[in-house]
Amino acid sequence: MKLITATNYSDMSRIATEIILKRIKSSDKLTLGLATGSTPIETYQYMIEDYQQNKTDYHHVTTFNLDEYVGVGPTDRTSYYYFMKSKLFDHIHIPREQTHIPNGLANNLEDECSYYENKIKNQGGIDLQLLGLGSNGHIGFNEPGTNFDIKTHVEQLTEATRSANARFFDSLEEVPTHAITMGISTILQSNEILLLVSGEKKSSALTKLLKDTKLDPSFPASSLHNHPNVTIVADQEALQYANLT
Ligand code: F6R
Repeated sequence: MKLITATNYSDMSRIATEIILKRIKSSDKLTLGLATGSTPIETYQYMIEDYQQNKTDYHHVTTFNLDEYVGVGPTDRTSYYYFMKSKLFDHIHIPREQTHIPNGLANNLEDECSYYENKIKNQGGIDLQLLGLGSNGHIGFNEPGTNFDIKTHVEQLTEATRSANARFFDSLEEVPTHAITMGISTILQSNEILLLVSGEKKSSALTKLLKDTKLDPSFPASSLHNHPNVTIVADQEALQYANLT
C-alpha cells in the first residue's frame, strides 16, 4: 500500500483529482469505479473545474458506481444515481450510457446483482477504483463480517452505517436498510485502487488499516492488503493517531 499524506480535505481531493485525470488523459479506454458519500465530493468538484477549464475528454471513459440503496429510484434526491448526476455527470461531457449504477428498484435484486457484475466483467473490469472508508471499516457497502470472496450482492446495512448516512435523509427511519453493492472480490479485481480518507472520524479505522496487515472479515478494508496496487490519500486529521513517523 502506498500512502500519500495530504494536509487537509481539499488537498486530499486535489491529489485524488490529479491521479484520476492523469489516468483519463493517458488512456484510450478507461473504466473507473466511483464512490459516493462526503469523501469524493470535492474531488468531483475539481474534476468539474478541470472540465470547464480544459474540456477534458470523457468519451473513452466508462464508470461503474460501487453501490445504490435498495428501494430508492433515480429521481429520488437521496439515491446515489441522483448524487452522481448532480455532483459530476451533469457537469462533464460523458456519454450517459457509459455510466452505470446498480438499479435499486429492480424487481429481482439477485438478477440485478449478476447483471451488474457481468457488465463490469464484459467491460474488461475496472482500471481504477475510487473508494471511501466507512468508520466501521466498510468499503462499498461491504459491512463487517462480509466474505472477502463475495461479488455484487444485496447487503443489509448496519445501524452504524445507517446512522452515519442519516445526514443525507430527513430522518434515520428514512435511511434504507439494504443496498446493492459491488462485493469485496469485485473491488479487489480492479487494476488499481485509490482510497480516500479524511477527517478525525475515520482516524481509528485508518490507523487499524495501516497498522494491522492481518486479513480480518470483521474489518472489510483489511481485504485491501490482498491487492497489489492500492494508493491511500489521507489527510492529517485522519492520520493523527497513526503515528507513522
Ligand atoms: C459510497 C460507499 C461507502 C462510502 C463510505 C464513506 O459509495 O460505498 O463505502 O465510501 O461509507 O462515506 P463518507 O465518504 O460519506 O464518509
